[in-house]
Amino acid sequence: MEKAGLRLEVDGAVATVTLDRPERRNAMTFDTWRGLAAIGRTLPADVRVVVLRGAGPSFSAGIDLGMFSGGGEGFADGADAEGTDRFIAELQEGYTWLRRPDIVTVAAVHGHAIGAGFQLALACDIRVAADDAKFCMKEPALGLVPDLTGTKPLVEIVGIGRALELCLTARTVLAEEAARLGLAEIVVPRDGLDGAVRDLVAALLAVNPGAAVATKRLLWEAADNTLEEQCAAERREQIGRLREMFGR
Ligand code: ACO
Repeated sequence: MEKAGLRLEVDGAVATVTLDRPERRNAMTFDTWRGLAAIGRTLPADVRVVVLRGAGPSFSAGIDLGMFSGGGEGFADGADAEGTDRFIAELQEGYTWLRRPDIVTVAAVHGHAIGAGFQLALACDIRVAADDAKFCMKEPALGLVPDLTGTKPLVEIVGIGRALELCLTARTVLAEEAARLGLAEIVVPRDGLDGAVRDLVAALLAVNPGAAVATKRLLWEAADNTLEEQCAAERREQIGRLREMFGR
């Protein structure tokens, strides 16, 4: 975890993952993304809420730019498309588990959330932002595309026009605008971030665990389902709930 620049604390039903390279503004390396994937794979079964936060002045300054020195050595060979595809897919696993229905994931964002850091916040179910939060999808400005699962939630949250504008100008979105665009569900003063996250976690844990899992599954399916499919999904989940609650 230390090599990955991560810290994991598990306290009963709550796991807290801290991006922990404050001297590098929590810049992330391949080890960070592999470490995140490993946390997802090994999370104790009784964890219900996962909080992601950053140590120091920023949530995360994105990919460690040091990895670009030496002509991109260490990145998979772009000429070997299949190998590179596998390589990126492995890194994406650091993000995809955050959408699993058995957990609710909360990003506590303060300071900069740039590139891979912004995408990490987007991979979480709920974003709580401090009023000093600054979101920026910087990849296109560096000649890259956002490839750590961020494009889908970004478009779903802000719409295609705004997503294009944000990505293709690589401009920074401040907390107030982030709240308006739906990129942050809650914005609080910087010194109130930890308290706001604690309150949110307590409220999430107060809900029936089985209902929380079923409802998250249902809500994530909604965007891709027709109304008919979604109605069927609601009935299926409710049958499961009724069976669990009343044994029939
Ligand atoms: N990779 C490696 N080191 C970094 C990164 C990074 N992404 N971001 C910051 N650092 C280092 C700085 O080099 C500096 O190191 P030093 O103390 O040895 O000089 C240290 O962290 C502190 O950074 P400062 O720039 O001094 O901090 P400040 O608070 O003024 O600025 C900011 C923070 C805005 C995040 C700035 O550092 C920055 O723009 N970083 C680069 C962001 C970036 O382009 N990320 C890539 C996005 S694309 C992607 O993620 C795929």
